[in-house]
Amino acid sequence: MPTVLALETSCDESAAAVVRDQRVLASAIASQIEEHARWGGVVPEIASRRHVEALPALIEQVMNQSGISYADLDAIAATAAPGLVGALLVGSVTGRSLARLHRKPFLGVHHLEGHLCSVHLGEPLPEGPFLVLLVSGGHTEMIRVDGPGTYQRLARSRDDAAGEAFDKVARLLGLGYPGGPAIQQAAASGDPRRFPLPKGKVSLPEGGFHPYDFSFSGLKTAVLRLVNQLKAEEEAGGPPVPLADVAASFEQVVADVLVERTTRCAVDQGLRTLVMVGGVAANRRLRQGLEQRCSALRLQWRAAPLAYCTDNAAMIAVAAEQRLLAGGCSSIRLAVAPRLPLEQAPVLYEPQAPF
Ligand code: KG4
Ligand code: ZN
Repeated sequence: MPTVLALETSCDESAAAVVRDQRVLASAIASQIEEHARWGGVVPEIASRRHVEALPALIEQVMNQSGISYADLDAIAATAAPGLVGALLVGSVTGRSLARLHRKPFLGVHHLEGHLCSVHLGEPLPEGPFLVLLVSGGHTEMIRVDGPGTYQRLARSRDDAAGEAFDKVARLLGLGYPGGPAIQQAAASGDPRRFPLPKGKVSLPEGGFHPYDFSFSGLKTAVLRLVNQLKAEEEAGGPPVPLADVAASFEQVVADVLVERTTRCAVDQGLRTLVMVGGVAANRRLRQGLEQRCSALRLQWRAAPLAYCTDNAAMIAVAAEQRLLAGGCSSIRLAVAPRLPLEQAPVLYEPQAPF
């Protein structure tokens, strides 16, 4: 039953958590979203500064709330890759300093492995391999998981991530940042079938289309064209742009395409369990769509608890627990990597730091 203190600072949320045996004893997040919102996206320099300011209080808060002393901890973990390099460094240096100070093992965690592990904070998964749809602001991937740390990527987005598409479309609709929650709210009263939008197929060199890969950049352009046309009609004396219908139509096509291709991949792979994690997994229409399709296909379905879909440190602690139980430990010299594919996560636990 390992007990882990984990830090997450890969992007625009500073977070700390204490987790014991996949149970959250304390979790705290300081979001910088409002500050970045004025710029329409994350400003890396601001993110690093805010992490430096926020982390000490967050760590104190979770240590106090959990009632755990440093002596009771089995390890200290921090996200080491991928993410914004300056932001990652803040968490990594803090985590490694605490580990040195309190003579505890340090684990540098892969951010996507953290997202994958967020599902363990909810209901237990059925036995056996499963397919994960990871949908966040930076990634849209399908990953086959055959056991802890055994991953195979089966599909990805060829251009924008799903969350990025939500953020860009929200911006062009004037709905603010981050786009996902803003679009969900605007779409609630809209007609999701009013405007047909493209599902973004990926052509194969030998002809035909990739069965699972995604493409969201054409969809974003199609929404832009649609909005320009609706604005022109409004200016010519027509009705105001039906924002709710545009938002709902966009949200629906993203949900449809994610659900269709992921369930098809699970069936083709003979996998009976489908898991959804990442910020976009918080989307209500997507969760409903996946639930309906999975029950029609008699697939088991799990998603990360809503509170742990977007970035948090509890998921990083669960990933660290799994690595620790498998005998994993990082070098105290391990730095950070802005890019590192999930399949390469094992390098984080080599005795000689790879970077
Ligand atoms: O996982 P996450 O917090 O950060 C990354 O690792 O990228 O995901 C953030 C993304 C943002 O693009 C945000 O717009 C999206 O998740 N998101 C949502 C919702 N909540 C957050 N997208 C759709 N619907 C939501 N309810
Ligand atoms: Zn994330």
